[in-house]
Amino acid sequence: MIWNPERYRAYEDHRNRPASDLIHAVGDQPFRRIVDLGCGPGNSTEALIRAFPQATVTAIDADPSMVEAARKRLPGVDVSLADLSSWEAPEGVDLFFANALFHWVPGHMPLLERLKAKLNPGGVLAIQMPDNLDEPTHRLMVETAREGFWKQAFAAAGLPKRAALPAPADYVETLSADGADVSVWRTTYFHRMENAAAIVDFVGGAGLRPYAERIRKEAGEAAHDAWFAAYSAAVSRAYPPLADGSVLMPMPRLFVLVRKG
Ligand SMILES: C[S@@+](CC[C@H](N)C(=O)[O-])C[C@H]1O[C@@H](n2cnc3c(N)ncnc32)[C@H](O)[C@@H]1O
Repeated sequence: MIWNPERYRAYEDHRNRPASDLIHAVGDQPFRRIVDLGCGPGNSTEALIRAFPQATVTAIDADPSMVEAARKRLPGVDVSLADLSSWEAPEGVDLFFANALFHWVPGHMPLLERLKAKLNPGGVLAIQMPDNLDEPTHRLMVETAREGFWKQAFAAAGLPKRAALPAPADYVETLSADGADVSVWRTTYFHRMENAAAIVDFVGGAGLRPYAERIRKEAGEAAHDAWFAAYSAAVSRAYPPLADGSVLMPMPRLFVLVRKG
């Protein structure tokens, strides 16, 4: 999937809140070495630098435009272009941090185990993932993709639907096997958005992109526009406005915190 840093940053306040909550859960620690995995445009990296001023914070991301945006935002910070699937994680890290990354990495449990193995004693692996496939935003991506004349765009390769997350028990059992302390919790954020169009715009900077890209590529601009109108109308129906016209977008998020013994 191709990311657009400008688009992603448009809702940065909403996206940063879970990153701050995750940092808060990690707590005040004398960490020396931190890696921000899937750093995007550098928003989570910046929050880590603020929270752990004594540490050396580096970052990686697989998307060239995100890496460029992060480097521009944080001159002097080592931001590498790398895909986690082939990236050789360094030894001696105190905190691997991943805000809104691992829901994009199917089958990520062995990768988490490998990262944990590279942590220093007392080190932490801290991740947060949107757990929102059952929310209207995501159910409607699937429903509207299957409904209209644009559905031919998905005939060959199927829907670009994210894989479901492993169960909380899987994280606990797998990651605590060697005595590490593992906490898992799920929090629903109620993001207050200006209107339903803002919800579409918000997911347009992340989960909706693979659908839009595929329809545009396989069925053309007119099919994309018709599908986009159908999706937007369905989202408007699913998220009724409050008295002032704003809407609440519930977003469940799963947090996993592993403290190595
Ligand atoms: C939703 S953004 C999260 C950005 C930032 N961490 C934040 O807190 O908002 C997810 C980022 O993960 C990156 N990403 C996805 N799969 C990846 C992979 N396999 N390896 C490295 N980065 C990946 C994407 O390029 C994207 O920039």
